[in-house]
Amino acid sequence: MDLDRRTLLTRATCALGAGVVAASCGSEDQAAAGSADRAAWESYWAGIRRQFPLNTDDVHLSAMLIASHPQPVRQAIEWHRRALDASPAGYLQDNNGRLREAALAAAGRYMGVDPRDIALTDSTTMGVALVYNGLMLRPGEEVLTTEQDYYVTHESLRLAAQRTGARVRKIALYEDIRQVTPESLAERVLQEIRPETRVLALTWVHSSTGLKIPVRMIADGLARINASRSPETQVLFGLDGVHGFGNQNQMFGSLGCDFFMAGCHKWLFGPRGTGIIVATPRGWAALRPSIPSFIDGESWTAWFENREPQGASTAARMTPGGFKPYEHQWALAEAFAFHEGIGPHLVQTRTEELATQLKEGLARMPNVTLQTPRRPDLSAGIVSFDVKGMTPAAVVKMLKERRIIASVAPYATRHVRLTPCIYNSPADIERALREVRAVAMV
Ligand SMILES: Cc1ncc(COP(=O)(O)O)c(C=O)c1O
Repeated sequence: MDLDRRTLLTRATCALGAGVVAASCGSEDQAAAGSADRAAWESYWAGIRRQFPLNTDDVHLSAMLIASHPQPVRQAIEWHRRALDASPAGYLQDNNGRLREAALAAAGRYMGVDPRDIALTDSTTMGVALVYNGLMLRPGEEVLTTEQDYYVTHESLRLAAQRTGARVRKIALYEDIRQVTPESLAERVLQEIRPETRVLALTWVHSSTGLKIPVRMIADGLARINASRSPETQVLFGLDGVHGFGNQNQMFGSLGCDFFMAGCHKWLFGPRGTGIIVATPRGWAALRPSIPSFIDGESWTAWFENREPQGASTAARMTPGGFKPYEHQWALAEAFAFHEGIGPHLVQTRTEELATQLKEGLARMPNVTLQTPRRPDLSAGIVSFDVKGMTPAAVVKMLKERRIIASVAPYATRHVRLTPCIYNSPADIERALREVRAVAMV
C-alpha cells in the first residue's frame, strides 16, 4: 500500500459516501479524488481480508463469537506447535518465560498499561469469574449490576454472593432502548449507588442489543462518589469489555474502570482460548486468587516454607496456573501486533462504517426492528434486530441457508445479530441486507 495509514484515513474520511463528498467538497474534481480514495481504502481492507483463511462462499458476520486467525497469528501458532511437538519440555523450558513476557508486553502496549498489571486467562468468562469471585465481599455489602448484563457476569456474581453473603442487586438500565442517551445511562447507574455498594459490575458492549455504555462517564461519576468515601468503602468498577476490545480505540486508562476482562479470541482475532484481565494496582490488591498461580514467586516460596504468601495480590498472583496451550498463549503477541499494524483508530473507523451501513439498511426495512442504537457513541460492531413474526433462531437458520452467518445470543429476550468487523466489506453488508430483506418478506 503506497499511502501511509494516516493519509489514507484523512482522505478516506472525506471519501466515505458520494453524498458526503459532494456536500463537503463541492466539485467534480474533488468527487473524483474522493472515489479514488474510496478505491484505495477498499483495496487496503481487501488486503486485510486476504490474511484470513475464511471461506468465500459465506458472508461471515459473527466475529463476535469466535475468531478466525489472521496469517501472522496462524503462522506463530504453527511455528510454536511444531517446536513443542519436537521437544515439548525442552522448548517450554527454553522459551516460556521469554514468550509469555512478550505476549504481556504486547498486551500492555495495546492497553496502555504496565504489563505487570495484566493477567493472562483463557477467556472473558474465566476473567470475569476470577475477578468477581476473588473480591473479599462481606455480608451486608452489595454488588450492583443491571438486568441487561450477560449470564457470565450474573452467574459469577451469584456464586460470589453465595460464598460471601454479599447481595447482588440488578437494576433496569433503561425502559426503552430507543430513548437512551449516554447521560441517561450514566445517571441511571450512578443514582443507584448506595452506601453498601462495593462493586459495580457492567458490560461495555451488550451482546444482546449491541448497546455500548458510556464507561468513562460512569467511571467519572464513581470517582466523585468515591472521593468522599474511605478506601475500604469505595466502589470498584468491573467491566466485561470483550465486545469493545479489538474494535474500539480505547486504552485501559481512558475507560477508567478498575477491572477489565476480555477474551482475545473474538474481535482481536487472537488465538482461540486466550484472554486478559487488566486491573489497577488498587483492583489487584482487592482480589484473592481462586486458582494457584505458577508465576508468582512468593506463592511458591510460601508453599516451600509452609506459610501464607505475604503482600497484596498482583496480576502474577491472580494469573491462573496449570500448563497451557502455550502455542496459543505465546501467539497473542502477534495478535496485538496485527491490530497495531493497522492502527486501532482505523479498526474502529472501519467497524463503525460497516455497522452504520448495516444499521441504516435494516432501519429502512418494513418488517425489521433494529435494536441497536444508531449513534456511534452508543454502539460498536454488534448490530441486533428482530424480524416481525419470526423467532431469531428461525431468521438465523434461514440466513445460514442463504450463506449469511448470523447468530443469536442466549438471553431471556433474544435478537438476531450481525456483527461486521475489519474483514468484511460494504459488498458483504449489501449482500447480508439483501438476504435479510428476502427473509423478512417470506
Ligand atoms: C458479554 C459477553 N461476555 C462474555 C462472553 C463469553 O466470552 P468468552 O468466550 O471469551 O468467555 C460472551 C460471549 O460471546 C459475551 O457476549
